[in-house]
This record gives sequence, structure tokens and C-alpha cells, in this order.
Amino acid sequence: MVAKKAVKSEPAESTGPQKTFTLTDDQTGKSWKLPVLQGTQGPEVIDVRKLYGETGMFTFDPSYTSTASCKSRITFIDGDEGILQHRGYSIQELTEKSTYLEVAYLLLYGDLPNQKQFDEFVHSITYHTMVHEQIHFFFRGFRRDSHPMAVMCGVVGGLSAFYHDSLDIWNPTHRETSAHRLIAKMPTLAAMTYKYSQGLPFMYPRNDLSYAENFLYMCFGVPAEPYKIKPVLSRAMDKIMILHADHEQNASTSTVRLAGSSGANPFACIASGITSLWGPSHGGANQEVLEMLQQIGSKDKIPEFLKQVKDKNSGVRLMGFGHRVYKNYDPRAQVLKKSCDEVLDDLGVKHDPLLELAQELERIALQDDYFAERKLFPNVDFYSGIILKAMGFPTSMFTVLFALSRTVGWISQWKEMIEEPSLRIGRPRQLYSGPTARPYVPMSKRK
Ligand code: CMC
Repeated sequence: MVAKKAVKSEPAESTGPQKTFTLTDDQTGKSWKLPVLQGTQGPEVIDVRKLYGETGMFTFDPSYTSTASCKSRITFIDGDEGILQHRGYSIQELTEKSTYLEVAYLLLYGDLPNQKQFDEFVHSITYHTMVHEQIHFFFRGFRRDSHPMAVMCGVVGGLSAFYHDSLDIWNPTHRETSAHRLIAKMPTLAAMTYKYSQGLPFMYPRNDLSYAENFLYMCFGVPAEPYKIKPVLSRAMDKIMILHADHEQNASTSTVRLAGSSGANPFACIASGITSLWGPSHGGANQEVLEMLQQIGSKDKIPEFLKQVKDKNSGVRLMGFGHRVYKNYDPRAQVLKKSCDEVLDDLGVKHDPLLELAQELERIALQDDYFAERKLFPNVDFYSGIILKAMGFPTSMFTVLFALSRTVGWISQWKEMIEEPSLRIGRPRQLYSGPTARPYVPMSKRK
């Protein structure tokens, strides 16, 4: 492990005039003043960092419903209003006017690039897209029927065994090189994962194509003939990537940050993010939505299905609905719903039974008191699978596409954390509820 060195960071955020929050122990009457921090947007935050030292008590928030785990300048969400902004720019404006690589630059560096900065960034990403030739053999160790996310967990973590020259996390050039390598190589690895599952030859990246075009080419092209990229598909792919690029401190991003706080290398940290994303409550939901729609089968079965969803004993959830932060329509779902129509229209699909089923399911659910009372609305995963399926991806690849798009968010959040001068290893505490101290009983004397 390389020793920690001072890292240069941006100036600290102004916390505004110091407000305090008073905490009183009802039994002793003793009280403590806790500082209240203000961000640039969003709720105020009670600073409990000194709480244990001063009171001997911890706070209890197992699923982090009321805990800000870090300070960040990257992404802002107002879940009640359905607002998502990256570095201050709305997701609607970014999906309409920008491209994935421009958004990647924005997330990583904090501002939109000028032409020169953008050209240099695109050049660096483009020329890092190939992977070490030995990685081809690494793939061959996996069964062909492995879930693509299982393969991704392995190969992305494995990158740290290949790129030793960018692993000093305290060196800004190393950090940047690793970030560029990850953004550049994820499409190549994702496409290789797909090809491997199909028993098809790997396609080398093409530097004359855009990021989204190159990814589609590596997935759907074959060496034996030229591959013609449909502009509507590469535009939709680019949009899907922007919509999934970052989402502040969700489970996978928090996993990346926690892994990184120990000084682990960025390839290992991103692999940990992939493992967390895989779960059906998080990125795995896009696969589950499509499987759910296929299982429902037809519009007349919707009421029966929703009855199961509302029955707490059934264990069935309406996948693609509900969100920890959004208590309103997920703005990403709105953009995707529109994109869905455009893509299917352009592909000449007049009636897509799954899209029609999804629209009807959404309509009925939104009128139902169960969903209204709990503020459950469609999330990003509700419509993404329908577009990805229309593009030709099998359901098992959906979460891989989420991981590939989210890599820039993960690495930007990791970089921000490493560049924070007050960085310390993340170490949550607990409310212990196990046995108290007891003597060891020899086996011969146990009942
Ligand atoms: N279907 C049915 N009931 C639901 C659903 C759902 N999809 N989501 C939440 N609820 C109910 C839940 O049963 C609970 O009801 P009650 O108060 O009666 O016990 C209430 O709504 C609150 O749910 P929760 O589980 O406490 O909410 P959470 O914030 O812990 O969970 C969630 C958020 C996304 C895990 C959850 O809404 C869910 O499981 N949704 C389906 C999976 C899904 O679509 N995930 C993708 C999330 S967006 C992509 C991403 O960022 O990863």
C-alpha cells in the first residue's frame, strides 16, 4: 500500500451562518448544541461527528433514511419535486442537448468542457478502449451460461491485476488515468461479456465511432461482415447512458465510496459497486421488470397481478416502481418513456405488446390508492428494459448496461472522496443486541 499523501482539493463549501440544533437528554436535562450545516440546495444537515465524543451515544439509522454519509458537489436530487441535476444541469437538458462523454467530463471534472478540453478527453477515452490481450483468456475461465453480471464482477476487479501503472491513488495522474481507463474499457468488457455468452468472437473497438456507436458495434457487429449502425439506436443508447450516469449516494455508489475509503484501488472499488448494483432492489430491477411483464402476459391479468403486489404475504413487488428518494415521478423514467416511443417508431414497431402492457400497468397503478398513499411512481427501470429489448439485448445484459453507464458516476464520486483532505476510512457503528459477556463452556459440559 502506498502511503497517503496530501491531495489538492477544491476550496471547501461555505456552510453559511452557523446554526445549531439542541439535543436534550430528558432524564438528566443535559443538553448539547450540534452544528447545522447547509448545502447549496436540499435539506439542512445536523453535524453529529462529535456526538459520541461528547455524549457517549451513537445515532441509529440502519438503512440511511436520514443520514448524509458525505459532502458532494456532483449530483443533486429533490425526490419530492422529481428533480435530478448533475453539477447544476437538469437531466432533461442534458439528455436533450448533451452527449454521454460530455456528461462524463462534467461529472468527473465539475464543468462542461470547452472544445479543446472535450477533444482531448474524447481522444484519451477512445485510445484507452482496448483491453490487455490476456483478458481474453480470463473470460475463458467462465462458463458460457454465467450471468453477465457475474462475469463483470470478476473481469472489472481483475483490471487491477493488469494496470499496475495507475494504482497509486494519491497520485492525481494515476487517478485520472484509472478513471479514463475505466470509462473507456467498460463498453469493451460489457460487449465481450455479451459475445462470450453467445459463443461469438470478440470485436475489437473502433476509434472512428462515437462511444455509443462503438459499444453497439462491439455487441452486434461480427468480423465476417460490415455492421451498419442505426442512428436512432446509437442516439437512444447515448441517452440511456446519460440517464444512468450518476445518482448521488445510492447503494452501489456508497459501496464504492466505502470500499475506496480504505485506500483500495479504483478497479477493485468499481467491482464492488457492480456487485451492489446487481441486486433486484437496485440495478437488477431492469431485468426483473421485463420478466415481470412477460409473466403478466396480457392486460386482462393486470388486476390479478396488482392484487398479489398489494398482498404483503405474497412477497411480490411491482418492479420498476417506487424509490427511496423519489416520492414523485422519476424524471429519468419520463425521458425514457418518450425515448421508448421514438425508438420503437423508428424501428417500425407499430404495436409492441410489452410497451402497451407497461403503459396500461402504469396507468392502473397510478390510479390505485395503494401506490398513491405510498407515493410509488415509475422509476428509471420501468421503461429501460423495453428499449434495450427492442435494440436486441437479452434481459440478462440489462444490468450490465446500467453498470457500464454508472461507471463514470462511481469513479467521479470515488475521485471526489479521495481528493477530500478530511478523508478517513468509513466505519459505521452498531446497536449491539447479542449476548452479553459469558464464560466459555467446554463441549463435554454443553447440553
Ligand atoms: N411494489 C409494491 N410495494 C412497494 C414497492 C413496489 N415496487 N415499493 C415500495 N413498496 C411499499 C412497501 O411494501 C412499503 O409498504 P408499507 O409501508 O405498507 O410497508 C412502502 O411501499 C415503502 O417501501 P420500502 O421498501 O420501505 O421503500 P424503500 O425506500 O426501502 O425501497 C425500493 C425503495 C426501490 C427498494 C422499492 O420501492 C422497491 O423494491 N421497488 C421495486 C424495485 C425497483 O424498481 N428498484 C429500482 C429502483 S430505481 C433504480 C436504482 O436507482 O437502482
